[in-house]
Amino acid sequence: MTQQQNWSPRFESGLHPQIARFNASIKFDIELIEYDITGSQAHAKMLAHTGIISSEEAEQLVSGLEQIRQEYRKGKFTPGVDAEDVHFAVERRLTEITGDVGKKLHTARSRNDQVGTDTRLYLRTQIDQIQSQLREFQSVLLDIAEQHVETLIPGYTHLQRAQPLSLAHHLLAYFQMAQRDWERLGDVRRRVNISPLGCGALAGTTFPIDRHYTAELLHFDTVYENSLDGVSDRDFAIEFTCAASLIMVHLSRLAEEVIFWASEEFGFVTLLDSCATGSSIMPQKKNPDVPELVRGKTGRVFGHLQALLVMMKGLPLAYNKDLQEDKEALFDSANTVKACLEAMTILLSKGLQFRTPRLANAVCEDFSNATDVADYLAAKGVPFREAYNLVGKVVKTSIASGKLLKDLQINEWKQLHPAFEADIYEAIAPHQVVAARNSYGGTGFTQVTEALARARATLGTESTESQ
Ligand code: ARG
Repeated sequence: MTQQQNWSPRFESGLHPQIARFNASIKFDIELIEYDITGSQAHAKMLAHTGIISSEEAEQLVSGLEQIRQEYRKGKFTPGVDAEDVHFAVERRLTEITGDVGKKLHTARSRNDQVGTDTRLYLRTQIDQIQSQLREFQSVLLDIAEQHVETLIPGYTHLQRAQPLSLAHHLLAYFQMAQRDWERLGDVRRRVNISPLGCGALAGTTFPIDRHYTAELLHFDTVYENSLDGVSDRDFAIEFTCAASLIMVHLSRLAEEVIFWASEEFGFVTLLDSCATGSSIMPQKKNPDVPELVRGKTGRVFGHLQALLVMMKGLPLAYNKDLQEDKEALFDSANTVKACLEAMTILLSKGLQFRTPRLANAVCEDFSNATDVADYLAAKGVPFREAYNLVGKVVKTSIASGKLLKDLQINEWKQLHPAFEADIYEAIAPHQVVAARNSYGGTGFTQVTEALARARATLGTESTESQ
């Protein structure tokens, strides 16, 4: 059996059924249907506005398209493979509804500019949704950070204890990453929001269309300058997937930290039952499936970015069917980012608790105040490198005798260097070590408090505490 013809009588027989399935995009591009309808309604209005069709005809087209939207929402419009793609499916149904008038819709248009329009409208909506999810994620980070300005957490470089931090400072680092993600999506949106409608198949059209009119109806900022570029450009799709990949990088880094924070070895957080899973065999286990899935899903989005780059690199102008492959990459990237942002936001706000007593102990049991001993001497005029070497020796002998720096007696300090006074104990206490890092953007409590206020102002919200 061959399928019904979608194209001209030049074709004598239909497609081989397997080839029809191979060629069809309807099973995934049905996702675009509402954008396709909205785009077609704007096109129909423009055709009347420019006198290419009558306003009565345009009205029939617009209301027929609206009917299809309602049918789709009620689950009554479910086109199959014979429709090939969402554009044919809608046009065919419109002709069933409106009769011959429906056949006028495709005047001065091609599926090439149509699919580009739909994809941009889709992505614009996704960007708006992801931006608002990022804001929610940031606001949860900020709420938690505000409660933990004076909670200390070990800070690491090379995953070795380095210097203690305010937990709020640590969380604000993720706030800043999300802020860049939010801004980056805004930049991408500017290049997504350009109308290719009216570029036709590749060369424009013989009809006196008004591209700016459709662009305005569809709230595009502007129109593509060049018709060939308009129908074949997918830079915006690559940029979106790149922005999505960076969001996943940030979520995945946080996920990784949560995973080890929840381990027995770190014990910095407790996973609450709402966001933890069990083992089918080991009854004692509580597993961090949520952050693990976020970390695991990251690769999918990177893969889509790679797929899009490779898809584009050898394409001659203008449209080529390869471009149909952009859809699943974009849909899955957007869906993955949205699902992961939602899960991480829930995990942070409802699924974990910081174990503050354990954190308070953690920052006392190491040599992460060694830099502060060197700074202490340097502040008293000892050249920093000399002080650094001296402290290195102290650390070595302390480790050998099973002591921490705070355990050294004042006479031991004085033997090391006469500049040491009794205030050395205060200078190396973790709270003071953190407080002292008061340089702009540092972890000192004054800095962190100011950073929190700036972050709050960025969000333009009140803290949930004070509401
Ligand atoms: N389904 C196609 C796509 O997603 C629509 C455009 C088809 N254009 C064409 N000349 N065959 O790209």
